[in-house]
Amino acid sequence: MEYRHLGKTGVRVSELSFGSWVTFYDQADVKAAAKMMSAAYDAGVNFFDNAEAYAGGKSEEVMGAALKQLGWRRSSYLVSTKFYWGIQDGVNEKNTLNRKRLIEGIDGSLERLQLDFVDLIYCHRPDKTTPIEETVRALHNIIEWGKAMYWGTSEWSAAEIVSAIEIAERRHLHKPITEQPVYNLFERHRFAREYQRVYKEYGYGSTTWSPLASGLLTGKYSQGIPEGSRGALKGYDWLKEELTDNEKLAKVQALEPIAQELGCTLPQLGLAWCLKNPYVSTVITGASRVEQVHENMKASEVAPKLTPEILERIDLIFAVKKEDQDD
Ligand SMILES: NC(=O)c1ccc[n+]([C@@H]2O[C@H](COP(=O)([O-])OP(=O)(O)OC[C@H]3O[C@@H](n4cnc5c(N)ncnc54)[C@H](OP(=O)(O)O)[C@@H]3O)[C@@H](O)[C@H]2O)c1
Repeated sequence: MEYRHLGKTGVRVSELSFGSWVTFYDQADVKAAAKMMSAAYDAGVNFFDNAEAYAGGKSEEVMGAALKQLGWRRSSYLVSTKFYWGIQDGVNEKNTLNRKRLIEGIDGSLERLQLDFVDLIYCHRPDKTTPIEETVRALHNIIEWGKAMYWGTSEWSAAEIVSAIEIAERRHLHKPITEQPVYNLFERHRFAREYQRVYKEYGYGSTTWSPLASGLLTGKYSQGIPEGSRGALKGYDWLKEELTDNEKLAKVQALEPIAQELGCTLPQLGLAWCLKNPYVSTVITGASRVEQVHENMKASEVAPKLTPEILERIDLIFAVKKEDQDD
């Protein structure tokens, strides 16, 4: 496993990390979660991603209980959480990054995770109604109080990120240090077109999500929706259309000969492709069972095999426009 600096910070994260969205609580209990986290940790993973809103707070509870069981040295791993959607319906408690919510929210997360601090807090989405300065100041305070080490953004526009950085610089407050954007073979456009300037000019990090497009890039949906897969879960109907899109499935199928040539599986190829981007600090992987973790962790060995020629062949399959290519 290689370790990459999280943006310009001194802290380094494993190039493959592990997140709990969809899986913890709904697909994996504490025992299964601990088994998967342990497999990831043994492979070198040092960053575990979570969010307050995942399973309405239950995902943090599962991760907290698993961490307690695993008993790792606190300095040997990083944990994140995220705020925005909230877990209560109050007018000031959902879809917000207001000061009150953030400062109250972190205490709830720490309790559920059974931790004294998280390493990273993300603002899960931009909040168009709270002044960015209010959010920056609240995050600054949370860090100063020792409840978090760093903070970042998720799916903010480049303009909003730069605004937060500049406010923090002007006021001598803790700056956001990383974005959490979607990034996979189907969704690379924003990363290339919008964010690269922020990565290049501000040294902003990127911890990327849904590297296998929720499982679409594993090839498992080529014959319909398999039982026990994310596409078969209750409450994820909105995903089904994408997971069974014939045009997308044909592209995944076209990747198969490349995977065979490289002697790897489709999930490993999809993850390795994300790792090739030098602006990616870590690729946050997801899994519903431990076998997937074992398979996915081998993507690090596949990445060096992706030569410029192979990358070009992949670009041709996905009909990538010049402006969407990574430089
Ligand atoms: N910031 C944000 O807004 C945001 C949004 C989404 C995710 N995230 C973060 O990113 C993490 C990863 O996202 P993701 O879970 O969507 O990642 P993903 O890699 O796109 O999808 C993971 C899912 O694909 C299937 N899968 C993974 N490896 C497989 C394998 N080797 N063989 C067969 N199936 C496999 C599993 O689902 P099944 O087995 O159930 O089919 C697994 O849960 C999340 O846990 C979360 O921490 C952040």
